Amino acid sequence: MRIPFIAGNWKMFKTKAEAKAFAEEFAALYQGTDVRTAICAPFTDLELLVELFRGTGIGVGAQNVHFAEEGAYTGEVSVKMLEEIGVDYCIVGHSERRQYFAETDETVNLKLKKLLEGPIRPIMCVGESLEQRDAGVLFDFVKGQLEGGLADIAPEDIKKIVIAYEPIWAIGTGRTATPEQAEEMCAFIRATLIDMFGEEVADEVIIQYGGSVKPANATDIMNQDEIDGALVGGASLKAPDFMQIIDF
Ligand code: PGA
Repeated sequence: MRIPFIAGNWKMFKTKAEAKAFAEEFAALYQGTDVRTAICAPFTDLELLVELFRGTGIGVGAQNVHFAEEGAYTGEVSVKMLEEIGVDYCIVGHSERRQYFAETDETVNLKLKKLLEGPIRPIMCVGESLEQRDAGVLFDFVKGQLEGGLADIAPEDIKKIVIAYEPIWAIGTGRTATPEQAEEMCAFIRATLIDMFGEEVADEVIIQYGGSVKPANATDIMNQDEIDGALVGGASLKAPDFMQIIDF
C-alpha cells in the first residue's frame, strides 16, 4: 500500500518571518489527513519549520544538498547538517537546479547515495522539456535520467526514494500536464523501475506529479492509478491553497 505523499516546494520564497506566518496559518487549518505531507523550504527556514511542525505529522524537506561528507565547498550544505536539524526529506535534481546550477544525472546519483546513508528521504525529480516532448523523445529522456540518477543504488534503498515527475514545460507555467499525460509518464517510470529493480521494489516507490498543481486540478491528478502524490510549487506558498490540495 502506497500512502499518498504531497509535498510543497517553496523554491526561493519565504523569509524566516514569512515561513513562521505560513506555519502558524497552516497548523490552524490542518486537522490531520490520510496523506503524508511536507514542506520543502529554503535552508534558512528549515530549523524553524522542524520546530513549529514537531508533533503535527507535517514533514520538512530541503531543496538541495551536497554529496560530500564535508569540505571546502563554499556555499554548500551537507547531509550531516540537514540530519542534525531533523530534516525529513531532500529534493534532488529539480529541473531548476539542472538548468541553472549544472546539476547532472551524475551529481544526482552522488547526492542520492549520500542521503541514503542516513534517514533523510530523497525526492528525485525527472522530467522532459517541451522540445523533447514535441520531438517524441520524452520517454527515452526520462529513462536516461532514471538510469543515470539511480545507478548502483541497492534495491532496498530504492524504496526510500520518492520520484517526482515534473515536465519542465508545466512548471510555473500554469500549463498543467493533463491527468492522462501525467499518468502515462508515471506508469512508464514505474515500468522502468520494474525493469531495473524488480516488481516488489517498484510497487512500493512513491511517484509524484509536479507542474502547476493547484486546488482546481489536484483531485484529477491524484485519482490516477500510478500517481501517488504531488510536488507543488506556487500553490504551496499559500496555506489555504496547499491545505485544499492535501484535502483533494
Ligand atoms: P509549480 O512548481 O507547482 O509552481 O509549477 C512545481 C515544482 O517546480 O516543483
